[in-house]
Amino acid sequence: MSRKPIIAGNWKMNMLSSDAKSLFEGIKSHWSETSATVMPQVIIAPTFTSLWAVSSVKCSCGCGCDKIAIAGQNCHWESSGAYTGEISVEMLADAGCSYVIIGHSERRQYFSETDEMINKKAKSILSKGLIPIICCGETLEQRESGITDSWISGQIRAALDGISSEDIAKSVIAYEPIWAIGTGKTCDADEANRVIAMIRSVVKEVAGESASNSIRILYGGSVKPETIAEQMSKSDIDGALVGGASLKVDSFNKIIENTMTVMVN
Ligand code: 13P
Repeated sequence: MSRKPIIAGNWKMNMLSSDAKSLFEGIKSHWSETSATVMPQVIIAPTFTSLWAVSSVKCSCGCGCDKIAIAGQNCHWESSGAYTGEISVEMLADAGCSYVIIGHSERRQYFSETDEMINKKAKSILSKGLIPIICCGETLEQRESGITDSWISGQIRAALDGISSEDIAKSVIAYEPIWAIGTGKTCDADEANRVIAMIRSVVKEVAGESASNSIRILYGGSVKPETIAEQMSKSDIDGALVGGASLKVDSFNKIIENTMTVMVN
C-alpha cells in the first residue's frame, strides 16, 4: 500500500487530564517496542485541556514517538486576538499538535460551522505547517433522498477552495456519514469505499492526479476492532477516525493491531 494508513482517535469532550494521560500512556507503552514502519500513523485528539498532559508523556520512551501524533479537535483561523473561547493553530502547535480535525459534523451541527469557515481553518493550519483532517458526511435524510455524492463533493470542493495541490496532497479527509456516528451502525465497507473513491475523484479534479493519489481519506462512524480489517482491505480507505472505541485502551490498540494485519498482507 503506497499511502501510509492512519488510525486516529477523536476523544471528543471526554476525560479529565489524568485519565487522558493514562489512556495515552496505555496506547504508547503497548506500541513502544514496535517499529513505526509496520504501524499505521496513530493520531490522538484529546480535549484542549488535556493536550499538555498528553504531550508531556509523548516522547519519553526514546523509540521515535512520531508513531503517535497529537491533534487538536478544532481551531480558529486567526493567530491571536479578541476571539473569546477560541484556540489558534499556533497554540495547538505549542501544545504538541501536528494535526487538527476540522469540520466535524458535531461542530457543523451544534456550532453552526460553515464550509467557508472550514476552508479558512484548513488554510490557516496548512500555512503553519500542520495537517488538517477535514471531515465530511451526509445525514440519513440526504442519503435517503439520493444526494450523498453531490452533498459530499460540495463539502470537499468548498473546504479545498484556493489551496495548492501540494498542500492538498498532504491533507487528510475523513468521510463520516452522520447516521453512523455513535450509533453502532457502521456504513457497509463497499459503500464507504465507493464514497471515498468518489471523494478521491473530486480531489483529482480540483488538485490533479498526484494529489489524489497521495491524500489520505479515512472512514469514521462506529469503527470497532471487528470492523476495521474489512474496511482497511478496501482500495480507497486509508484508515479510520474512531470515536467511542478510541476511549478504551484495549479496543483502540486492537483497532491498530487489526489494521496492521491488513497492512502486512
Ligand atoms: P464513533 O466512532 O463513536 O461513531 O465516532 C465517530 C466520530 O465521530 C469520530 O470523529
